Amino acid sequence: MTTLTSKYGPWGVIAGGSDGVGAAFAHALAARGMNVVLVARRAPVLAAFADEVRARHGVEVRTVVLDLAGAQAMADLERATADLEIGLFVYNAGGDDSSAAFLDKDLHTHLNLVHRNCASVLEAAYRFGAPMVARGRGAMVLVTSGAAWAGGAMLAAYGATKAFDLILAEGLWAEWHTSGVEVLGLVLGATDTPSMHRVLDPVGGHAGDLADPDDVAREALDHLADGPTWIFGQKTATSGSPFGAMSRRDAVLMMSRGKAGRATTS
Ligand SMILES: NC(=O)c1ccc[n+]([C@@H]2O[C@H](COP(=O)([O-])OP(=O)(O)OC[C@H]3O[C@@H](n4cnc5c(N)ncnc54)[C@H](OP(=O)(O)O)[C@@H]3O)[C@@H](O)[C@H]2O)c1
Repeated sequence: MTTLTSKYGPWGVIAGGSDGVGAAFAHALAARGMNVVLVARRAPVLAAFADEVRARHGVEVRTVVLDLAGAQAMADLERATADLEIGLFVYNAGGDDSSAAFLDKDLHTHLNLVHRNCASVLEAAYRFGAPMVARGRGAMVLVTSGAAWAGGAMLAAYGATKAFDLILAEGLWAEWHTSGVEVLGLVLGATDTPSMHRVLDPVGGHAGDLADPDDVAREALDHLADGPTWIFGQKTATSGSPFGAMSRRDAVLMMSRGKAGRATTS
């Protein structure tokens, strides 16, 4: 029988793997017998979560504390995992937990977001994708968002980074899927995570029905080979933008209407 580890390799990495969607991926990988490397900034939260994964699934768990917005993050992560065969890489961290107009955020915050959501994602694909392609097996999941479909008010930088992730995943899929390496750009809508609640709760906001992160992770693992793009929660998950043939302007106005009055990370 083909298993996750027999198909891709013994270890998975989850960049942003201590809560929310990343934690759900950690449980989902471990439940299928894969050892996991979990990356996050808050060391105590990460250590407690790693213990939970070990206790529940009996797999090996390695933790790496680092800031994915840092210039050396991916080089450090590569060094910290150099002795492992990484068969599956999930680049999960990417939420923007402070919704505001473009000029109401300081430039440093924008640049950090771009580094974590674009430069480090590209570097992860380069550093961890290369050995997968050389081995002829592996999988990468780049978690993106419905914010990638069009620009929107209060989302300018976040949406742009998520569009980068979507297009990067599609291009990598085009190059790698014939060499045994799957790439999935996983598009999420509003999902029930601590990050989402950090945005919504202080302003009493709501984002309609929230997806369950466990469902997200399970479905993504079941469809690793159905790339390049998987739209969670959409009737046909392999279809295109929900804006369809709408003009770019109308899509932007529609995206902005949903965002201008409320805070959300989706
Ligand atoms: N939740 C939603 O409604 C929603 C909607 C659409 C798309 N998405 C996408 O889904 C993905 C996951 O979202 P999420 O809501 O679970 O929250 P998230 O804030 O993107 O991810 C949380 C995890 O990432 C870690 N993390 C965040 N920033 C990091 C950094 N700079 N360096 C290292 N680790 C970092 C967090 O731990 P530490 O804080 O300890 O570092 C935590 O483990 C994101 O890519 C997001 O864009 C989410």
